[in-house]
Amino acid sequence: GKNIMAILKIAKMGHPILLQKAKKVDDPTDPKIKTLVNDMLETLDDLGNGVGLAAPQVHVSLQVVIFETVSDDGKEANLITLINPKIDVLTKETSIDWEGCLSVPGLRGQVNRPNKIKYSGLDLKGNKIETIAEGFNARVVQHECDHLFGILYPHRMKDLSSLQFVSEAKHWVNRNE
Ligand code: NI
Repeated sequence: GKNIMAILKIAKMGHPILLQKAKKVDDPTDPKIKTLVNDMLETLDDLGNGVGLAAPQVHVSLQVVIFETVSDDGKEANLITLINPKIDVLTKETSIDWEGCLSVPGLRGQVNRPNKIKYSGLDLKGNKIETIAEGFNARVVQHECDHLFGILYPHRMKDLSSLQFVSEAKHWVNRNE
């Protein structure tokens, strides 16, 4: 049949689905899951300013995330679909960096996270994925997987004084940093 894709509406902070624990996917090969992922990819592409999306952000409380990781030399980007993910932290080292979120539009804030993780889960064929991620990639995966447990990045901020509107901060970035 014809493959019709759809651009989905993004749930914003304040919508209760963003605070729920998402359900595990029973069968990753279910065509409904493939449709969901395709629609999430289409939605992310349409928005053009995100590096990842979690199913609860499109009002579906299932453990599905998509995210972009970048190769070490920064030249290659890969779009990963991860179902029923699990994260193992591999280091005590952490770093603080800026994060934004499509469900918290216009804002950014500094979040402290572990530098190195292993993420595991399933792909759309039901095959096991197991990957080590560091730095920015590790941050993106942790941010997206947090969405499956009702956690938004502002909940992780130790110091809310860095929470700011990007449109305001851009006037000051060279003077402050
Ligand atoms: Ni987010």
